[in-house]
Amino acid sequence: MEYRRFGQTDLEPSAYGFGAWGIGGSSYGPVQKSDALAALAEAEEQGCNLVDTAAVYGESESLIGEFLRGRRDRWIVATKYSFQKQGLERTLEQQLERLGTDHVDLYQLHSDPGPDAPIWEQLERLKQDGKIRYLGVSLYSHRSIEWMLDSPLIDGIQVAFSLLDPQPFLRCSEALERSGKGVLIRSSLKSGLLTGKYKPGTRFDKGRDHRAEDMTPQEIDTALRQLESFRFLEQTEGSLLLGAARYPLAFPAVSSVLLGARNAEQARFNFGEIPRQPLSAESLARIEQAQKALGLGRRSLLRRIVDRLRR
Ligand SMILES: NC(=O)c1ccc[n+]([C@@H]2O[C@H](COP(=O)([O-])OP(=O)(O)OC[C@H]3O[C@@H](n4cnc5c(N)ncnc54)[C@H](OP(=O)(O)O)[C@@H]3O)[C@@H](O)[C@H]2O)c1
Repeated sequence: MEYRRFGQTDLEPSAYGFGAWGIGGSSYGPVQKSDALAALAEAEEQGCNLVDTAAVYGESESLIGEFLRGRRDRWIVATKYSFQKQGLERTLEQQLERLGTDHVDLYQLHSDPGPDAPIWEQLERLKQDGKIRYLGVSLYSHRSIEWMLDSPLIDGIQVAFSLLDPQPFLRCSEALERSGKGVLIRSSLKSGLLTGKYKPGTRFDKGRDHRAEDMTPQEIDTALRQLESFRFLEQTEGSLLLGAARYPLAFPAVSSVLLGARNAEQARFNFGEIPRQPLSAESLARIEQAQKALGLGRRSLLRRIVDRLRR
């Protein structure tokens, strides 16, 4: 496993981090507790040292707490505050209890609260108390990213970035690199669609699977049709999944790519078999062409990275 520094902090997360939404059982369908614990153990075995969760991910925090007993110091624990009604301090206390720890390494706001929100002072206090080591925020738009990069209060951000959703990351990538903030990438497999295992017409279970709520049937079909433009990765990288998971690592701003895994087999593959080296210049150039043809993004940055790799 390769380890990258998280911004200016002393955290060194593995290039692939464990995305623990899926093991919570509430958003991708039920998961056996034994499978969830085995997935975490296998990830550790493969060198993964970062787990990203949230209070709103079903049983995820409690499972992680159980798993971490006797091995807390081997893991960077990242979780999130989702603006629960009971407030920040009470929520964090409960999270620490579930996680079985006295501190969270990276505490992230689940969305941008805006520059004047009183929460920043509270967070600063919790940091001084040692309950939070570093502060992050999960963002969705380039405006939020640009504003957050100027904030001395946050140590890093989390943002979605995939073959099919290159923005807003590409637009902000150089600014992110210059800012020195840590960057966690989520949804590089687009909630599993970029594993290549689903066909147009796939419908997810309403009430059991977030994909039925977060994407319309038309959006699912469009994504599944668009991903055909990236099938060349099967030849150049071995599979669509291997190309999709590695894609963000070509960007120096990226600290770690979060991958979901719901059993030991997926964990062995995701943390043990997906190469850590960035994609080849050829694959990156073809991704750029495909995204351009699909009207998905600004390409100048990717072009420069391709040129740098070719030199
Ligand atoms: N707003 C936020 O802050 C936010 C939002 C989304 C995600 N996140 C974080 O990012 C993490 C990753 O995102 P994600 O969980 O949405 O999903 P993801 O990593 O994009 O995809 C997870 C999906 O991929 C499938 N999968 C994973 N590895 C596989 C493998 N080796 N073979 C076949 N299928 C595989 C899973 O399988 P199954 O089909 O078996 O379920 C699941 O459906 C989350 O766990 C969470 O930590 C944060």
